[in-house]
Amino acid sequence: MVDLKSPPAERLGVSQRDVHQDAMDHVWIHSQPWAELAERQGLHVFERGEGTTLWDSNGKAYFDGISGLWVVNAGHGRAEIGEAMGKQASKLAYVSAASFTNGPATELAHTLSELTPGDLNRVYFSSGGSEAVETAIKIAKQVQAMRGFPRRYKVIARRGSYHGMTHGAMSLTAQRNETYFGPFMYGVSHVPHPNRYRSDFGLEGEAADIMAAKYVEQEIENQGPETVACVIGEPISSAAGLHVPSLAYWQMLRDICDRHGVLLICDEVINGFGRTGTMFAIEKYGIVPDIMTMAKGLSSGYAPIGATVVRDSVYDIFKEQKDVSMGHLLTFGGHAVASVAAITNLQIFARERLVERSAELGAYLLGQLEQLRAHRSVGDVRGVGLYAVLDFVSSKETRKPIAKDSEFIRRLNQEISDRGLLTRVWGVMHFAPPLVVTREEIDRIVTIADESLTVAEREHPEAFDA
Ligand SMILES: Cc1ncc(COP(=O)(O)O)c(C=O)c1O
Repeated sequence: MVDLKSPPAERLGVSQRDVHQDAMDHVWIHSQPWAELAERQGLHVFERGEGTTLWDSNGKAYFDGISGLWVVNAGHGRAEIGEAMGKQASKLAYVSAASFTNGPATELAHTLSELTPGDLNRVYFSSGGSEAVETAIKIAKQVQAMRGFPRRYKVIARRGSYHGMTHGAMSLTAQRNETYFGPFMYGVSHVPHPNRYRSDFGLEGEAADIMAAKYVEQEIENQGPETVACVIGEPISSAAGLHVPSLAYWQMLRDICDRHGVLLICDEVINGFGRTGTMFAIEKYGIVPDIMTMAKGLSSGYAPIGATVVRDSVYDIFKEQKDVSMGHLLTFGGHAVASVAAITNLQIFARERLVERSAELGAYLLGQLEQLRAHRSVGDVRGVGLYAVLDFVSSKETRKPIAKDSEFIRRLNQEISDRGLLTRVWGVMHFAPPLVVTREEIDRIVTIADESLTVAEREHPEAFDA
């Protein structure tokens, strides 16, 4: 038990106790089954981070191959961010988001309006990605109603997508769990994802993307355009397995939404802040969404903060109907200390040219990963910027995926972890290191993947079709 009577400096010495046991007894690890914690992978309690490296409570070092959870883009251990946050906390930490704002939130909103494409100029702050998505869908619905279309409440999302775990955001998330949480938000439908490797339409190349875009229009028409509020998608998919659509896909979606009076939401919660080699992934497509969501890399994880940025044309209705406000309030939106964390993070981005670095080193990462195609389990290698995956198959001919809960994937995870690499290996293996990663470190993580695959393939031949 924490001794609340001791002076704070002494209380911080948690390591005097068995922190690992304490964590097993009291911390609810968000999405690990008990068997993973107690019997298989175990639980790491991390104590320190620097650049791309994390140290656990046993002093073992790990390479952070997924930037926490696509979050720590500027790298761990940035004292500069901590110092700026400390200064702000002692000056002013909080004012009500319901009626006021503060200097750092204002500066950050201004910066984001400059960094985002086109006239995305108005920022609604929140505490993370799910809240940013909740905010986006509520804005879409309310704006449609205020424009005179109260029946436009439906949302079109894409199969395989992840948009968060609060109830509304989870309703858009494709793998939503009906058994525990249904019924979900009414009016959500899911359409096929652009996926050239395993197209739902049996098509290859750009034709697969174009068909996926046409399907969105079909779905709008099928639902009745007068009932559809918005379409939401990540410019470059994450949960669906990192597919980089062709220019035509997003340009078609922009055009389809415009023709049908539907708002287009781009979820940049993972894509944003340099991950794909541009500040925002949608920049590659030369279009401007009506609403953009962001979180994670916005502060590189130094503080919980999310944002929903809308075009002038979306906010204008609140200037016209000037006695109406958004039916939405998040107590911690625009928190001064979190805003300072984001501002200082973005200053580091500019000074160290982290976005350009992501493009340059991402090309190197992809080139090195290409060599792993020689493995029988590697069906595809995809990526852009410092964001890449290996897609595992039981047969290169049929492209049948290896199941996420197979012994092959379990073994692979174990090998990777034993060799000191942290990442996510499900149907695909993710490579998303902090943007400060070096070429030597990239070589090291590719070698770990290579060696681990060799072991898993040798020990689990049953994973492959004869
Ligand atoms: C694309 C996308 N949107 C939204 C979210 C939800 O973000 P958070 O976990 O910060 O609520 C995530 C989380 O991984 C995400 O990947």
